[in-house]
Amino acid sequence: MVFRYLTTASLLLAFVITGSQFSFAQTTDPHQLYEQHCARCHVEHAGEFVHVTLKRQGNKVVGRETGLELGSFLKDGHGKLESAEAEVMVAHLASILETEPIFHEKCLICHGRAVTFVRFELILRNGRVIGRYTGRDIEAFLNNHGRLAGSEIPTIVRMMERQLASP
Ligand code: HEC
Ligand code: HEC
Repeated sequence: MVFRYLTTASLLLAFVITGSQFSFAQTTDPHQLYEQHCARCHVEHAGEFVHVTLKRQGNKVVGRETGLELGSFLKDGHGKLESAEAEVMVAHLASILETEPIFHEKCLICHGRAVTFVRFELILRNGRVIGRYTGRDIEAFLNNHGRLAGSEIPTIVRMMERQLASP
């Protein structure tokens, strides 16, 4: 009884804390969203999905087959997402579309999938991406690691921030 009460109380507390600090959209984990709402009919991982299904057209993200703009397609009900979830999903997939080819070409061979690497090895501290075990400032570290072109460094670091900001 006491145990059940405590569990409920702490769940409520967690809800109150997260609810008061962040909007719903920011606490929605896009990876989980993809797995729960899309993977059933599409490929298993969002990274691969982006690769085979989406492309950039001007500043829009569109389906390769349909040519439909991703945001409106999802808001029209494909995949049955709430509108806030659709926004999280579009931002997530667009970010993958931008960073995945870079990570794939220059980092994957040593570090494996970005999502796993980032979550195991890196943390956010005062808004900066830091090596979990090394304490390194990663944006600075990447100036001499991974052979990224200058403009690719902030792109990759923003991707890491986004991965770490969702729970
Ligand atoms: C019930 C099965 C199902 C679910 C769930 C589903 N899809 Fe689809 N999706 C399809 C089918 C089938 C097509 C191809 C037919 C079409 O274009 O409507 C498609 C097409 C698409 C396209 C267009 C592809 C192209 O090449 O133009 C996109 C983008 C897309 N889905 C994204 C998503 C996302 C993101 C989710 C999760 C939020 C999702 N889908 C959930 C079945 C599904
Ligand atoms: C040839 C293999 C190789 C490639 C390619 C490579 N890395 Fe690394 N990376 C390593 C090794 C080994 C370490 C650990 C070495 C160390 O800590 O000094 C490391 C460390 C890191 C760290 C620091 C982790 C920490 O905890 O401090 C980051 C971040 C990182 N790599 C990102 C990248 C990115 C992004 C790319 C692609 C642009 C990339 N790496 C390409 C092998 C590689």
